[in-house]
Amino acid sequence: MFSSSVTSAKFREADSINDKDAYPTKNPLWRMVAYPAELAMKILCTGRLYMERTNALKWYKPQPFELIDKVTGWLRLTPECSFISYFPTFFGTFYHIHDPVVIKALFKEFRGSSESNGLFTPTRSIKTLLNIIREAFPETEITEEDVIFTCSHASSKYYRAWLHHLFDGKHITNYRSVIREEAEKTLKTWALRCKQDQPIHLMETALFASQIITRLMFGHKIGEEALAKAVNFINWYTLHKQIGKVSQQDEERFKQALMTFKTTVDDVIASEEAILFAPQNQNTLTLAQKKAMAFIIFFAGQETTGFLLGNILRFLAQNNHLQSALRTKIQKKDLLEDEKGEIQAEIESLITQSLATYPPSYAISRRIITEKDICLEYLLEGEEKPRKLIMNRGNMVSARMIDAAERINASSQKITQECSYDLWSAFGGGAHSCPGKNLALTEVFEFILLAIREYNLTTDQNQEPHIVGQITLQFIEDITIKLTPLTQ
Ligand code: HEM
Repeated sequence: MFSSSVTSAKFREADSINDKDAYPTKNPLWRMVAYPAELAMKILCTGRLYMERTNALKWYKPQPFELIDKVTGWLRLTPECSFISYFPTFFGTFYHIHDPVVIKALFKEFRGSSESNGLFTPTRSIKTLLNIIREAFPETEITEEDVIFTCSHASSKYYRAWLHHLFDGKHITNYRSVIREEAEKTLKTWALRCKQDQPIHLMETALFASQIITRLMFGHKIGEEALAKAVNFINWYTLHKQIGKVSQQDEERFKQALMTFKTTVDDVIASEEAILFAPQNQNTLTLAQKKAMAFIIFFAGQETTGFLLGNILRFLAQNNHLQSALRTKIQKKDLLEDEKGEIQAEIESLITQSLATYPPSYAISRRIITEKDICLEYLLEGEEKPRKLIMNRGNMVSARMIDAAERINASSQKITQECSYDLWSAFGGGAHSCPGKNLALTEVFEFILLAIREYNLTTDQNQEPHIVGQITLQFIEDITIKLTPLTQ
């Protein structure tokens, strides 16, 4: 399959007696020698954390130290350094996991599942999100149990079953006509603007994603664009608030954005039209749960889908050859079933490539629960005896999908169709994997199909984009594309 030095991995609670050999030595002489280096590293890394507050992709040790770790990893002196990078700061150590096998093991233990009580809790940023939901709806008491991101396993199962009902195959088929209609409308508006010399900013795709959620889940069109922009800003604010980087003006804008969001959600709930809130087989959501769900659906589904779509449009605009080859096939009259399948496979491959290179949700972080240390037991390729690594209580562990993808890319195994989406875990895994995956893929598929069939996509920027890691991936530069209708 793909190259990984880890063949199996499992996270479990550490046992101070049986795992004694895996804990770092307490020899005072060694501690005295190692301490100054550890302290220097912490100072440097905390400095970097401060400097790069808004870009988690830069949360790595300074280059020479990373290199030393890599070499000791390759030499198998500290084998975990070949697939985990440590980022020790005064706020705790961040363990960035790059190996797909270990990432899968980590997904299993997120917040618990039917098989385990869970070894990790949500990060502080999730708590910030909860506070923002509370701030948006001050008149309703919203508890951790009301929110799919913070609730217990039992509630999570309930909410996921609820969402599954909305995103199953039958519903997705029914949604297609709305998605096509919205895609057609968006593309037409874009082309008109391009004609007036106003190229389209790639992140405008998030507005399309938002309009789809509004129409499908809320059942009508109120405040579409204003709502999408409000959610966009709330996402931005959520991250910047955590790192204390918001101005008075941002606070004001945030209040307005929350008000727009709240008013829309209140209207939707009152109108009783929304499929998202319709009772399902006697089951229903409380008012607090409805409000929290509305917020989460936007928070999780807008920027992520927007980035994926935007990145594929950017790629197509930069690769005119590929665009026209695909168009020729799509425009062919009386397509045979085989040819339709071929077109579908080619668009899906574009999606796979984009997810693998730029997974919108580039990493998923969790905190190790404060009462327990964790032991990662793993087997390296070519070895028979498992190795152990202790991860200390209270620290952060992060599945870095973006690095895992790079690791796979760098290996001899190229990204192919047979390496399914799950391989890069762009949609997470285990009990909390993304319930909106099929909706997101359908949105992107339909939009791309229509865009290629009806328009020529071009851009002035021909380089790979620069990206930052802020909740989802974001483009740094203002990348714009131009659409020209093929038939006037
Ligand atoms: C390309 C688009 C998308 C990507 C890459 C993506 C990625 C993810 C990932 C990685 C997770 C797991 C997070 C974790 O384990 O903490 C997740 C969770 C979630 N996603 Fe998505 N997502 C996308 C689109 C959507 C859409 C369109 C919706 C809904 C309309 C959605 C709703 C959710 C929800 C509700 C969760 C929480 C699940 C839980 O905690 O049990 N996502 N998503």
